[in-house]
Amino acid sequence: MQSFYPPQRVLMGPGPSDVSSRVLMASARPTIGHLDPAFIALMEETKTALQRVFKAPDHACIPLPGPGTSGMEAAIANLLEPGDTAVVAINGVFGTRMADMAERQGAEVVRVEFPWGEPVDPQKVEAALWARGAKVLAFVHAETSTGAMTDPAPLCAVAREHGALSIVDCVTSLGGIDVDAAGWDADVLYSGTQKCLGAPPGLAPFAMGKRAMEAIKNRKTKSRNWLYDLSLLMSYWGGEGGRAYHHTAPINAIYGLHEALVSLFEEGLDNAIVRHRKNHEALAAGLATYGIEYQVAKPYRLPQLNAVKVPEGIDEAAVRQRMLDQFDLEIGGGLGPLKGQIWRIGLMGASSTPRHVRLCLTALGEALDHQGRKVSIVDALDAAEPLLG
Ligand SMILES: Cc1ncc(COP(=O)(O)O)c(C=O)c1O
Repeated sequence: MQSFYPPQRVLMGPGPSDVSSRVLMASARPTIGHLDPAFIALMEETKTALQRVFKAPDHACIPLPGPGTSGMEAAIANLLEPGDTAVVAINGVFGTRMADMAERQGAEVVRVEFPWGEPVDPQKVEAALWARGAKVLAFVHAETSTGAMTDPAPLCAVAREHGALSIVDCVTSLGGIDVDAAGWDADVLYSGTQKCLGAPPGLAPFAMGKRAMEAIKNRKTKSRNWLYDLSLLMSYWGGEGGRAYHHTAPINAIYGLHEALVSLFEEGLDNAIVRHRKNHEALAAGLATYGIEYQVAKPYRLPQLNAVKVPEGIDEAAVRQRMLDQFDLEIGGGLGPLKGQIWRIGLMGASSTPRHVRLCLTALGEALDHQGRKVSIVDALDAAEPLLG
C-alpha cells in the first residue's frame, strides 16, 4: 500500500466544489481533544457563524457529522414518528429521497409531484395540506438534480397556516443564493459543506427553530436514529447544564468549515451571492454562443448549478470524459430521467470565479469541436467577459 495523491482537478460538477488552500490548510492543523476548552470555544463560534449564514438568529445551529444526507436524515427522523403524515414536494432526486426517508420512519407520505426542471408550486402543495393535514412539509430549495430553484417563503407560510413544520433542504443553496430562515419563518434547514460553502464534504450545517424543538420534546416515542437524535446532539453541542458526551466531533472537518465561514464573511454573504449570479450570467452568455440551452426557465435557474441540454448528436459522456482528460475539469451528467440529456455545470463556492467560467467555456468548446461541432471559443469568451463577477 502507498500514499494516495489525488490528481489535480477543477471541480465544476454538482459538488464537491473546489476547496481553497486556505480551507484545506486549516483542516490540516493539529487535532486537539473534542473536550479541549479551545475546541469548545471553536464550537461556540461555529454555532454563531451558522446562525449568521442561515440568517437564523433564533434557531439552534450546529454542523452534524456526516454529508448533506445526514441533515436530511436528522430532520426527518426527529420530526416524524410512525403514523404521522408528511407532505413531500418532489421535483427531482432529493425530494424523492426525502419521501423515501419519511416512509422509512413509518410516516404516511403524501407525495406532491412536479415535472423535473420546474419549481414546486405552493398552490398544489396547499391543496395537499387542505386535503390531508400534515405534521411536516418537506421540500428542496435548490434541486441539484435539475438546476431548479423553489421559493421557500410561500411554502413555509402555507406550512404554518396548516400547522405543519417546514423542512427546507438548503444543501446546494446555502452561500450561493439567499437563505433566510428567519424571513421565511422556516422550522428546520440543513445544508452540506461541499457546495457553495467551499469546505470538503463531511458535515451538514443544521438549523432548528423553536417550534421544531417543541415538537421533538413532545414526541411520543424516542427517535429511531440514535446518532442523529437532535436532543442528544444539542446536549453535546452545549445544552443547558453543560456538555454531554455523545460522539467524537470530526475536529479537523470543523476547522475547515470554520475557515470557510471566516472567508465567506470576509467577502460578505451578499457579495458572494452577487458573485455566484454574475459568473452564472457570464457562463450562460458563453454557452449561448455554442447553441446550448438551459433545462430550466430563466426565473427559476440556479446560478450555482447550470443544468443545460446536451445538443442533438453530441455524445454527452464523451464530452465530459474529454474535458476531464484534456483539462482536468469535472462537470456532471444528468440523474434519473435526465441521464444522458443534460450536463450539470457547477459554479459553487471557490469554483465560482471568472477563471472557472473561462476554463469551462474553453474546455467544453474544445470537446464539442472534437466531436465535429463548429464552435468559436473566442466568441464564447468574448460573450462572457463583460459579465464576469
Ligand atoms: C439538494 C441536495 N440535497 C441533499 C444532498 C445530499 O448531500 P450529500 O451527497 O452530501 O449527502 C445533495 C447532494 O448533492 C443535494 O444536492
